[in-house]
Amino acid sequence: MRAVKVSASILSADFGDLLHNSRQAVEAGCDLLHMDVMDGHFVPNITFGAPVIAGLKGKVNVPLDTHLMIESPEKYIPDFAKAGSTYLLFHAEAIEDPASTIKLIRSHGCKPGMVLNPTTSEEALKPFAKDLDYVLFMSVWPGFSGQSFIPDVVSKIARFSKWCRERGLTPEIAVDGGINPKTAPSVVEAGATLLVAATAVFKAPDMKEAVRALKSAGTKV
Ligand code: DX5
Ligand code: ZN
Repeated sequence: MRAVKVSASILSADFGDLLHNSRQAVEAGCDLLHMDVMDGHFVPNITFGAPVIAGLKGKVNVPLDTHLMIESPEKYIPDFAKAGSTYLLFHAEAIEDPASTIKLIRSHGCKPGMVLNPTTSEEALKPFAKDLDYVLFMSVWPGFSGQSFIPDVVSKIARFSKWCRERGLTPEIAVDGGINPKTAPSVVEAGATLLVAATAVFKAPDMKEAVRALKSAGTKV
């Protein structure tokens, strides 16, 4: 039995009722709220920027994990930090110098996280793992919610979590994309500690039951 956290991705919330929907997700048991920022260049979709995050700042009592799916994320770190992000997540594929990006995120008072697209090897994380609070494995190609889970990510999570255990490293090991009560057990068994979910939370008929079902993946390990 291992406690598993859930971060609700607001991408599937009703943006006309965002604060209410976000509070509902927290009341349903979500431990974090996941902010999917997309620029139409790094990924083929546009969502929202720092003002939307600032709108939730101080109004929900859980940390905000901001997933930057944008080109040149380092340029916008000050804005997203100021908006109220607890974790700032950048893609390994979007930057050349992870070490200085990690430092920059810390210097703005946020916790750094690094994200890997489905085909990027976990080797990209290893040189920086000791300085990361959060690693995020994409189990869909980023850009949209509601896509199907790519099962190849499971072995990647298993290899990386074993590697961390052997070194006493304890970043949050998160997975994002197509996570639902059917796919969650495999990633939790592989070592995931945090499940990011949009559709499975916000489109569920009963949010509380949906979060309970996701977290129950932790009872099997
Ligand atoms: C995809 C985003 C995900 C997405 C997940 O680019 O990073 O966070 O909202 O959506 P679901 O849970 O529906 O796959
Ligand atoms: Zn995301």
